[in-house]
Amino acid sequence: MVVGQSDSLQAAVALATKVGSSRAATVLVCGETGTGKELFARGIHACSTHSNDPFVAINCAAIPESLLESELFGHERGAFTDARAMKRGLLEVAGRGTIFLDEIGELPLKLQPKLLRILEQRTFRRVGGSVELPIAARVIAGTNVSLSDAVDSGAFREDLFYRLSVVRLDLPPLRERSGDVELLARHFLRDLARESDGVPATLSADALAALCTHTWPGNVRELKNVIERAVIVAGGKTIQRQHLLFQRRRSVQADVDVECGTVIRIPPGGKTLDEIESEAIQATLALTHGNLSATARILGISRPTLGRKLRSAGLERRMVVSSQ
Ligand SMILES: Nc1ncnc2c1ncn2[C@@H]1O[C@H](COP(=O)(O)OP(=O)(O)OP(=O)(O)O)[C@@H](O)[C@H]1O
Ligand SMILES: [Mg+2]
Repeated sequence: MVVGQSDSLQAAVALATKVGSSRAATVLVCGETGTGKELFARGIHACSTHSNDPFVAINCAAIPESLLESELFGHERGAFTDARAMKRGLLEVAGRGTIFLDEIGELPLKLQPKLLRILEQRTFRRVGGSVELPIAARVIAGTNVSLSDAVDSGAFREDLFYRLSVVRLDLPPLRERSGDVELLARHFLRDLARESDGVPATLSADALAALCTHTWPGNVRELKNVIERAVIVAGGKTIQRQHLLFQRRRSVQADVDVECGTVIRIPPGGKTLDEIESEAIQATLALTHGNLSATARILGISRPTLGRKLRSAGLERRMVVSSQ
């Protein structure tokens, strides 16, 4: 459920509803982290005439380049050494439903012409296959980086950018719609109460004022986390200003709390280098609000290396969301 009454959010809802019920095959959803891109992608799917078909999501940044192609397009038996059986890709799994290509800006350059061809011809081939298969699914792409900047830097093909941007949904950051903060906070309080079969916690005037003046770099996800935490800390009583911990943000990747400006502490028993590395990665992810490119840049490693480290530490983001 999309909550918010600001003009900019309502305009996005109106466009998403139109797009959902139209035949428009491709949509680009742009917005900072936590602004609701996946929520809107699911909303567009839910408004469509094929809402009973699958919604599948794939994060282009979280899957190694070597696997992404067969994840998307599937492969024929024997297409490569480990391909012992034919596998359907997510484009096929989505059927007549929706495929959400999240963090499209991270789609490797090698796969970009392939995606463009697919969007134009509405057919594709499995890896190692020769038969052209039709695509029935709607493609929604999401990005939290400026794709036009990526075009300028040569990381993203201009033709694919134009093809994807035909219908473009821009989700406003929360700091530009502070009027929605209270509505969202109360919505999350009701949700939390429903989960625990209780009554929604109330907000003191001080707490509400603090929520309304915060700049929300992590947008709605950050607000949701702040509220969730405040409910626990307040222990069922009215949420006061001191229950709102803006300095601490929950890392998107790891389900742990990391304090911005974290100092890595070495206990008397010592720590392994792997543990220290994992803490440094989590702290940097918290600083960047889960932005993988920015995290890799700060840590001075490549995106694929960061992806490998996240996987080996068990910190990778959920990569594929299976059908609803
Ligand atoms: N307008 C809204 N109303 C209610 N809940 C919202 C709204 N916008 C976002 N949320 C909630 O905030 C959280 C983050 O939303 P979502 O995952 O869709 O963001 P995102 O833009 O995909 O973020 P990221 O770029 O980090 O992947 C989700 O729990 C979502 O349900
Ligand atoms: Mg998302």
